[in-house]
Amino acid sequence: MLPDVARAWEYVERVAQELFSRYGYEPIYTPLFEHTEVFTRGIGEATDIVSKEMYTFEDRADRSLTLRPEGTASVVRAALEHGLVPQGAFAKLYYAGPMFRYERPQKGRMRQFWQIGAELLGAAEPSADAEMILLLWRFFEAVGVPDDRMRLLVNSMGDEACRPAYRDSVRAFILEHADDLCDECVRRADTNPIRAFDCKNPVCVTIVDEAPLIVDALCEPCAAHYATVKRLLDETGLEYEEDPRLVRGLDYYTRTVFEVQAEGLGAQNGIGGGGRYDRLMEEYGGPPTPGLGFALGVERTLLAMEAADVAIASHPLADVYVAAVDDTVRDDAFLICEELRSGGIAAEADHQSRSLKAQFKQAGRLEAAFVVVVGPDELAAGELTVRDMATKVETRVARADILPDLEALMRESELLDDSDAVGGTDDGVDEGPGAAAPDGLDGEV
Ligand code: HAM
Repeated sequence: MLPDVARAWEYVERVAQELFSRYGYEPIYTPLFEHTEVFTRGIGEATDIVSKEMYTFEDRADRSLTLRPEGTASVVRAALEHGLVPQGAFAKLYYAGPMFRYERPQKGRMRQFWQIGAELLGAAEPSADAEMILLLWRFFEAVGVPDDRMRLLVNSMGDEACRPAYRDSVRAFILEHADDLCDECVRRADTNPIRAFDCKNPVCVTIVDEAPLIVDALCEPCAAHYATVKRLLDETGLEYEEDPRLVRGLDYYTRTVFEVQAEGLGAQNGIGGGGRYDRLMEEYGGPPTPGLGFALGVERTLLAMEAADVAIASHPLADVYVAAVDDTVRDDAFLICEELRSGGIAAEADHQSRSLKAQFKQAGRLEAAFVVVVGPDELAAGELTVRDMATKVETRVARADILPDLEALMRESELLDDSDAVGGTDDGVDEGPGAAAPDGLDGEV
């Protein structure tokens, strides 16, 4: 990730941090690798991720370890191990970091990719599902992806009461059509028949279109839960599509699943997705603990932003350049630069014995708004010159007052406002690369 991309990347992460903490989420960091069993158990042996995409290796003590292919399994493992969800309590956790899947790389699909995810443990109510779906949608809105370039799909996968019979009916359907379906669909009929809904083979797609749908097979409590999730979403005005064929690629889901898709990502149109996993904590030997969450892909988010022409302005590398007129004042320029930086101003000075002219050129390249000119005569008189690079106006200021005077000049030219320090490092989200629009909604990031 080279600086241009990395800056946009940091912006996306800051938006998530600010937004997720507004919804009550706290950060959690889990290891990049864990015992393989954490993933096989949670994600499911019959999933693509576990059966063919994990980076699994043995360490020097012959333990089987795996680079994490996703974050949920680790978060739930950690929550159980450290008792983060005592009886009756709940935990709201979010994470960001690289995940690893041995997939066939293409646009928007990497073997190392970055996810930002949120997990809510301990909440069984459908309002939690609605909140989770909203949070994911709000995130994409906040980074500037326009609503009309995204689709929100929702479905219910049922639970242990209604899904087994449904799976059997899909299995029976697949076996009935085994002669026409691809080998993979037929092979999975025993272990994971529902995955046939995800098969991209055009013949399979047409056949599976006729397969029984989970919505018609939900038990009463699952149907009621799903109805409430949809009603709450309706009441917030969020538009979604029910997709009874949305099954998602992980085994831990129960009841609600959802996905946000966006344009401009090639074959990979899922930018984020998630769902409920009320049995996962028990899979790890813990007490029954409902849970749900989502993860979004950072690379795919950036692709969606790019496709929607969300401008990612380049950020000036310095607001102020401190130029030395000659060698006698280089040390002073160095010290003034440090004084400005300590005072919160993004400042830069020369380290390459450049001439004054070359220093001004460099200030231009860095897009500095002001140049502080340090000259021997002015300095002897206890003064400095500040040049406004846009208006070319020069102001004499007292050496002792350089910091407050520059701050005043920057405030006048709106490089500073009362709430923030220069450089946009204090309150994050309000300052995208190059001073972003407050929540990205108007597109200029
Ligand atoms: P997932 O759908 O497998 O869900 O991944 C979530 C997001 O990660 C995808 O929507 C996509 O943006 C991104 N992603 C996945 N694979 C790749 C890849 N190879 N290259 C680039 N981006 C990728 C999960 O991982 C679940 N843990 C989500 C969840 C959290 N469910 C409940 N809680």
